[in-house]
Amino acid sequence: MEQKISASLLSADMLHLADALHSLEQAGVDMLHFDVMDGCFVPNISFGLPVLKALAKASSLFMDVHLMIEDPCSYVKNFVEAGADMLTFHLESRSDPFRTIQAIHDAGCQAGISLRPATPAKALLPFLDELDSILVMTVEPGFGGQSYLTDMTAKIAEVRSMIGTRKILLSADGGICKETAPAAAKAGTDVLVAGSWLFAQQDMREAVAWLRRSGEASL
Ligand code: DX5
Ligand code: ZN
Repeated sequence: MEQKISASLLSADMLHLADALHSLEQAGVDMLHFDVMDGCFVPNISFGLPVLKALAKASSLFMDVHLMIEDPCSYVKNFVEAGADMLTFHLESRSDPFRTIQAIHDAGCQAGISLRPATPAKALLPFLDELDSILVMTVEPGFGGQSYLTDMTAKIAEVRSMIGTRKILLSADGGICKETAPAAAKAGTDVLVAGSWLFAQQDMREAVAWLRRSGEASL
């Protein structure tokens, strides 16, 4: 199954975001993965609404927004107005998941749930019929550049089988690189989120093309 590639902006040079955006467009990524951290849900603080607004205005890339914040429901409208095309929040956050999904849909946006590594796949069961996307964290959320947790490959496969015939995009986020992408993709992802590895490649276009095909049996 050919993968869609969502590039995590967290690994870009913050002094030259416009250049990063244009290189990602030229590299042919499908989405821009925008990690929002509040210093409470995760022990790190990244970027937020004004940065998303500026990027969305400057690009037609699909804005894949990953909220690692305690109270995502309160910020749904703001992020959709700032240009999010898909809003993914954590099941472990304080917000009520049903209310949050509803708020995202009411705002005209696609809704996703993300799971920390310790949260079991079956926690998604009550929400499957409401979701457009599921993001399996393959590292502890909070930082780019960590190593893929190999135990998460089985979780990806479990979520894939739970999804069944529903139209839900399944993404893996964290530690995706040449060594780990084939396992995640073969376990059933539709989208690979890639940050530090992608930005470290000389030829980003070639790296994106390679990741796209990483689910092929021969790899
Ligand atoms: C981690 C973030 C990830 C991260 C991925 O909290 O949600 O999206 O930026 O970066 P790499 O590919 O470096 O693990
Ligand atoms: Zn992320």
